[in-house]
Amino acid sequence: MSPVLRQLTLTPGARILGLGSRQPERIVTNADISARGVDTTDEWIRARVGIEQRRFARADESVVDMAVDAGSKALADAGLAPSEIDAVLVATCTMPSFIPNAAGQTADRIGVHAAAAFDINAACAGFCYGLGTASDMIRAGSARHVLVIGAEKLSDWVDPMDRSTCIIFADGAGAAVVGPVEEGDRPGIGPIAAGSAGDLVDTIVISDRNSFIHQDGREVYRWAITKIAPVALRALELAGVAPADVDVLVPHQANLRIVEAIAKRIRAAGAPGDMVVADDIIHSGNTSSASIPLALDHMRAEGRVRSGDLALLVGFGAGLSYASQVVVLP
Ligand code: UT7
Repeated sequence: MSPVLRQLTLTPGARILGLGSRQPERIVTNADISARGVDTTDEWIRARVGIEQRRFARADESVVDMAVDAGSKALADAGLAPSEIDAVLVATCTMPSFIPNAAGQTADRIGVHAAAAFDINAACAGFCYGLGTASDMIRAGSARHVLVIGAEKLSDWVDPMDRSTCIIFADGAGAAVVGPVEEGDRPGIGPIAAGSAGDLVDTIVISDRNSFIHQDGREVYRWAITKIAPVALRALELAGVAPADVDVLVPHQANLRIVEAIAKRIRAAGAPGDMVVADDIIHSGNTSSASIPLALDHMRAEGRVRSGDLALLVGFGAGLSYASQVVVLP
C-alpha cells in the first residue's frame, strides 16, 4: 500500500498586514495627449472616462522596478523582514519577456531569497486573483507570509495615437503583504468570487510582442456595468457580509462611469449611502492589475479609509476575467 501523504497544518484565516505603492514621476495630462496630435479633448476624457491625469514610467523604468518599490514599501508597512516572506506573486500582463517572470526578479531584488515566485496573468483582475491565491496558500499551510503585487507598464503597449486606448491606460504598482490570523482571531480576507467570459476574449487583446493593445471599449463597457456588480455581491454573500456592512468599495479603476455604475448597484442592494468609493482613476488612470492596491494605498494616505474598515474589492478586464473578495483593511 502506498504511504498516506501528510497534510500541512491548516491556518484559520489570512489578512492583509501592510500596503505599498509606486507611481512613476512623470505626469501626463489630457492636454499633453491632445497637444501631441491625438484627436481628443480634456472635456471628452473627463466626461466619458473621468481621468484628469495619469503617470507614465521612464523608458528605463520597468515593471520589475515598480514592483520592487511597491513591494518593499508594503513589507515595511507590515513590519516584516524580507526573510519572513515565503512567496512572491506578481500580477501583470505587461512584462516585456515571456521568461524570466517578474516575481523571481522582484523577490531577489527585495531580498526575499529562495521564495516561491510566480506571475499571474488575469489582466485587470490579477491583483484579486493574487490575493485569493495568497489567502488560500496561507490557510492551507503552504506559506506563512505572501507578498502580492500588481505592477504594469501599459505605456509600452499602447499606440500613442490610438485615442480609444492612449487616454485610458497608465503605469504603476501596488502591493499587499498577506499573513495568517492567529487561532481565535477574525479572518481578514473573504472567499473569492471569480469567473471568466471567454466568449468575449476578442474584446481586449495584445496579440503578440510586436502589437499594441486593442479594445472594443463599448462592448467591455456594457459587460462591466451589467455583469460585475453581481460578482461583488456574490463575494459579500460568500463572506457572510451584508451590503450594509461595507465601508469601502474598490472596483478596478477602468473608467469612472463604470465605477459609479457598480457603486449604484451595490448601494441599491443595501450598501450605505456614505460608503467610500475609490476614484483613484482621476489622477492615476487605468493601471490594470495595479489599480486596486494603488487606490487602497492612496485612500489610506489621504485619510479616506481607516484600519479595520471592510472593503469590497472587484477586479475585471481582459480574458475576460473577474474576481472579487471582501477584505479588512490593515
Ligand atoms: O481595464 C480593462 C477593461 N477596460 C474597460 O473597462 C474599458 C471599458 N470601456 C470604456 O471605458 C469606454 O468604452 C471608452 C473610454 C473606451 C470609450 O468611451 P465611450 O463612451 O464608450 O465611447 P465610444 O467608444 O462609444 O465612442 C463614442 C464617440 C465615438 O464617436 P461617434 O462615432 O459617436 O462620432 C468615438 O469615435 O466618441 C468618440 N471617441 C472619442 N472622442 C474624443 C472615442 N474616443 C474618443 C476620444 N476623444 N478619446
